[in-house]
Amino acid sequence: MKIFIPPIKSQGIKTKLVEWISSNVKDVEYDRWVEPFMGTGVVAFNIRPQRALLCDNNPHLIKFKFYKSLQNKEITSGIVRKFLETEGQKLLDSNGEYYYDVRNRFNETGNPLDFLFLSRSCFIAQALVTKITNQVENISQIIEQGDYEFKQQDFQRTLSELKNTDFVYADPPYIGRNVDYFDSWSEENELLLNKGLENSNSKFILSTWLSNKYRTNDYIFSIWKNCYVATKEHFYHLGGKESNRNAVYEALLSNIQLKDSISNSEMKLRIQNEKSLLTSSSKKHNRAKQMILNFDEKVLVI
Ligand SMILES: C[S@@+](CC[C@H](N)C(=O)[O-])C[C@H]1O[C@@H](n2cnc3c(N)ncnc32)[C@H](O)[C@@H]1O
Repeated sequence: MKIFIPPIKSQGIKTKLVEWISSNVKDVEYDRWVEPFMGTGVVAFNIRPQRALLCDNNPHLIKFKFYKSLQNKEITSGIVRKFLETEGQKLLDSNGEYYYDVRNRFNETGNPLDFLFLSRSCFIAQALVTKITNQVENISQIIEQGDYEFKQQDFQRTLSELKNTDFVYADPPYIGRNVDYFDSWSEENELLLNKGLENSNSKFILSTWLSNKYRTNDYIFSIWKNCYVATKEHFYHLGGKESNRNAVYEALLSNIQLKDSISNSEMKLRIQNEKSLLTSSSKKHNRAKQMILNFDEKVLVI
């Protein structure tokens, strides 16, 4: 599957999960694809549904109109190329100082082209200009072909707009992990998300973390206990390698049975019986044995 990378980068981008998510939803029927946490939009832009509602509360992505500007052609790949070339030259001529001028200008005006410039680099080489321009062109075409609506709003608002014929892909900031998004993510938010999704009767997939080297995400078995759980265990089982030792394994939770999923209780049992290859139970440390020391007590003669 060829993956189209959006021109905007952001923390938590799911480029590596797109293929997995796509293979799990390809036979599912729905009217509209909804993402309350679209981030860069990489998932939707690669699933390429006919209709989509894509939301995020980060004003830089939507309020500052990046994707809307692509949609209404205020920004095109040609405009991006010209902009990056001229601004990149100014950056070079100023030995990088110009970056701060662009940043100040962006803070005042919220210009989406400045946002793109700042989010991609401090040094714009020609090869990068071409790469970004191509990314803008690809994503513009995808947006143009579909019936896509972009909204800057809180996830609760998006949940209130759901219909039972929607399919929701929810990718909130990961609960229980350090997050550095526009807003942080609390347990209360996770509960609200769960209730909102369940009450909507829409089909949904939620991305979350399954485990890291130290622990397993217990929310999967409490807040999300009604969901099926899909992991990439088979991939690692077949010899796939995770090169990053600090890897966080991902899970897809869903209210429908996915190609790769097992029931919540089955997953719990696998972990309890230490059959899961991707999870870790808290380590049992041997208590340090007290050393038995024999001191020869010397009798002090005063
Ligand atoms: C894990 S990222 C989504 C990444 C996205 N799937 C991608 O591949 O680029 C989570 C997103 O949730 C957004 N977010 C955080 N709190 C939110 C809230 N209360 N309502 C809506 N969006 C929120 C952040 O701005 C961030 O873009």
